[in-house]
Amino acid sequence: MSEVDRRLRELLATATLAGSSGRAAAAATERAVTAGGTPRATPRNPYLNRVMIKNAEDFFGRQQEVKRIFARLNATPPGSISIVGERKIGKSSLMNYVYMRSQRQKNLEQPEKMVMVFLDFQQEKDMSMESFVRLLIGMADCELRGRLDVSGCALSLDGVKDMVQRLDAAGLRLAILLDEFEIVTTNPSFDLEFFSFLRYLANHYNVAYLTSSARDLQTLCHTREISDSPFFNIFTTMRLSVFQRAEALELIRTPSERVGRPLAPHAETILGMAGRFPFFLQMACSHALEYLEEHPDGTAPDFAEIRRRFMHEASLHYRYIWDGFDEHERSAVLRLAQGRSIPDALRHVVEELESKHYVEGEGGSPRPFSATFEEFVKTEGVRRKKEPSLLSRLFKRPGA
Ligand SMILES: Nc1ncnc2c1ncn2[C@@H]1O[C@H](COP(=O)(O)OP(=O)(O)OP(=O)(O)O)[C@@H](O)[C@H]1O
Ligand SMILES: [Mg+2]
Repeated sequence: MSEVDRRLRELLATATLAGSSGRAAAAATERAVTAGGTPRATPRNPYLNRVMIKNAEDFFGRQQEVKRIFARLNATPPGSISIVGERKIGKSSLMNYVYMRSQRQKNLEQPEKMVMVFLDFQQEKDMSMESFVRLLIGMADCELRGRLDVSGCALSLDGVKDMVQRLDAAGLRLAILLDEFEIVTTNPSFDLEFFSFLRYLANHYNVAYLTSSARDLQTLCHTREISDSPFFNIFTTMRLSVFQRAEALELIRTPSERVGRPLAPHAETILGMAGRFPFFLQMACSHALEYLEEHPDGTAPDFAEIRRRFMHEASLHYRYIWDGFDEHERSAVLRLAQGRSIPDALRHVVEELESKHYVEGEGGSPRPFSATFEEFVKTEGVRRKKEPSLLSRLFKRPGA
């Protein structure tokens, strides 16, 4: 039985006994197995990624961010980074890319001295502190591949300290990657002592954290005491946003070329349909590619049809974005979609939407980030007008 198989069995067995973190252990161990990059057959459609990118050849752009993260990890002591970005912007993909063995070899000054542990909390809403510690020590042990034995460390914060001291004595550094970290900061099982302990480790040993969350971590704590704690001062915040234009063009061009159906000639149409959000670009490219496969005769693709299919898939996500807007944001984005002027009172709202790239202001006149999102917003706006607003229902006035 391989070392990884043995660890997977152990982690699953112990995690099940603890009543939690089985899925995380399995996912994390799978990640440890595949961190070197699994060889796999190229799929016919390379744009079907809808969750975290697992293969390096499917990952595009973000080179500046990767450089910045490794520069922090190479520093002594290594620095911590909090990646903050909207849903589906590519946080987990970026973290997993940094975690890949090939990237560590390429970017770390002393890759053999860095122990990296990737903990994903997506499925672990009610995790206990003990499960967290078990996973951390188990994964570190797995990463060490027998170079140093930390499996005997107690399943407590003292045990983690013991492990870090053993790593330190062996001249090893530790980077803990914590995806969806708000699941921990909002979990009452993790108290102030826990966060103070994490800070202590970073301040006294070569330990760094790379976290991801949808909002600033400090706004996502279950108590004021924790959000005010100096733990958060150890982080540099990295805001992850839409692709640069060149990154978007690379995503449109390269995978489609690899499968012999180049989309580069349609890049402007695809950008107009999806904007520069990597998730929507993948969606638009996947429908364009599918269409080309169905029509191999080489006639010009019917982008009205491709757009219809794209909308069918994207509208659920557009609704999520729309539902996340407050009344002012909806009103501002609807005005922009309809080409109406923006009153002074809504100008700061437009600026805020621009900073999140839901609205693009290039050329001086801001518009929703893509033609399809604009269409969605207009449809929603009309629907909304038909339904009287909460205020008008309360005061029995016609809809505002
Ligand atoms: N660097 C990238 N290269 C190519 N596609 C990307 C990249 N980053 C993100 N994507 C696209 O966006 C999708 C979502 O990425 P990912 O799951 O990493 O985002 P996330 O921010 O972690 O999302 P969530 O908020 O749901 O956790 C991917 O499946 C892929 O389609
Ligand atoms: Mg994610």
